[in-house]
Parts: sequence; structure tokens; C-alpha cells
Amino acid sequence: MSINHGVGSANGKIILMGEHSVVYGEPSVAIPFPATQIKTEVTTAQTETTIDCLFYKGLINDMPELLESLKKVIEVSLTTLGHSDDHLALTVTSTIPAERGMGSSAAVAVATTRAIYDFYDVELTQDELLRIVGISEKIAHGNPSGLDALMTSSSIPYYYVKGQPFIPISLNLDAVLVVADTGMTGQTKEAVASVGKKVASNNQAIYQAKIKQLGELAKASRTYLEENQADKLGIAMNDAQVLLAELGVSSLELDALVISALSHNAIGAKLTGGGRGGCMIALARNRAEATIIAQALEETGAKATWLYEMSGK
Ligand code: PMV
Repeated sequence: MSINHGVGSANGKIILMGEHSVVYGEPSVAIPFPATQIKTEVTTAQTETTIDCLFYKGLINDMPELLESLKKVIEVSLTTLGHSDDHLALTVTSTIPAERGMGSSAAVAVATTRAIYDFYDVELTQDELLRIVGISEKIAHGNPSGLDALMTSSSIPYYYVKGQPFIPISLNLDAVLVVADTGMTGQTKEAVASVGKKVASNNQAIYQAKIKQLGELAKASRTYLEENQADKLGIAMNDAQVLLAELGVSSLELDALVISALSHNAIGAKLTGGGRGGCMIALARNRAEATIIAQALEETGAKATWLYEMSGK
């Protein structure tokens, strides 16, 4: 850091198991996804605070509603640091596709908070970072579990239960994860709200049971990851996809990619993140099979694919 410059970064994240159910206190398993990154840079502005990002360039006071959560993170960081009257110029660059279940809203909040603290040369604890990002995620997601904030600011996988200390997981799985982007924006806020309605509806017992089952699958998956049981993890992923579809958060595009992956030898496949668009993941036995699956997914319509080595090497 120098006096007039601050920088902060964050990575994308992939939820292996437990999206949506994590909001209701069930466990989840997620990995940081450094193949996609966000970086925020901060310098001094002359008159008013400005921002330059993919979706908007101009004064933060005129930012579109879509970016309200980012505006909030800037305000909260400046107020917390006692600099609410200062004017900053922020630039955000990103390779995390937005609204695709990779945690882009949390990642931009993490990178921006880190950049502002770096600009003022103030140490930022993980607790303080999660508190500030949590405020912005409430606007972006309505009822965030905190998982995205944790994962986009971490470099290791975690087992996460809302409100409990997060537990690091040592990856030890001889398998390769294929991540594919449907190219359609997911709707995390709407998806979380619609699951919320189901869980509180007249049929609540049915939906609460599904949430519980998703939690049990996530719990078992932690063991599968640590004990190198790729086949069992694959089956758990398939079971989770059925439950998530029953909760109404899959989509035609996600279903098509899941079917394509399974018919090309994937051990398991499911959506990841909020759903209703966004990304899906498929588990392959090795890199050669993962490459074939990725190619099949692109032929089925995926806009981008990535491979992620699950052995932790
Ligand atoms: O779509 P994403 O990447 O923001 O992931 C959302 C994950 C949910 O479990 C659906 C919501 C949450 O806050 O954990």
C-alpha cells in the first residue's frame, strides 16, 4: 500500500453441497475458486466518490439499484473507518461471471472492503470483513447465510454452518470438478425467497424434510472429500440435484447440462449456488474424463467451463 493507493482482491466460490439448506442452519461444503477473481483499486477522488466497474461508471450516489449492495459496502467501510466525508475513486475489475452462483456479489464486497482498508492502511480482521460484507449481502440476497462472504475471502475449502465457527476441510479426492456456466443469470435473491415461501407454506413439513436431507448430504460429503470417496460424493451430488429441483431452484438449462454431464460419464452433477440459471458442477474421475465432459457441456450450450483438481495438489 502507498498513501494514495489501496488494492483488494477476492476469488469466486463454488458450493459443492448445501446451497439453500445452509440458509436454514444446515451444513454446507464450499471451495474457493481462484480461477475467477475480482480486484478493486482505490485512489483519491477530487470532489465526489466515483466507481468504474463493468456495469456502471460514475458517481456512487447515482449508482443503479442493482449495485446498491456495493454502494452500501463503500459507505459502511468509510463510516467504520471514520472517513465518511472522504472522496474516493474506485475501479473494479472482475473475471467472476456476475449472478452465476459463484458469489460475485460477496466477492466484489470483499475486494472493495479490503481495498478501502488498504487505502487507509488499517488492518482488517476476518471478523470485521465478514461483518461489513454481511451488511451488503443482506441487500443483495435478502437472507444470506454468510457462506459466500466466507468463501470469497478464503483460500481453503470450508465446512460451514451458519453462526458456527467454520471448519477447514483438507481436500483429498482423486477426482476433477468440471464447472460450467449456463450463461443465464441466476436469481439468488428470488430463489432464496421462493424457497423461504415453500418452507413456510401449508406443505412446510415436506419442504423442511428436503432441507434436512440436503443438510445430511452435505454432512456426509465432508467425509467423502476427506476420505477419498469420489463415487459416494457423486451419488450425493445427484441426490442433492433432485432435492434442489424439487425446491424449484433448477432450470431447463441447468437440467440439460446435468443430463449431458451424466451421459458423458460424470460420477455426479448438480447446480451450484442460488440456481435458476448460473452454474452447475460435475464430478469426473480424472482430468481426461473431465475434459470430455467439459466439451460435451459446451456442445450442450455452456458458455464457459473450468476444471478444478479436487486432490488439493
Ligand atoms: O448464487 P450465489 O453464489 O450467491 O450462492 C447463494 C447460496 C445460497 O445458499 C442459495 C444463499 C446463501 O446465502 O447461502
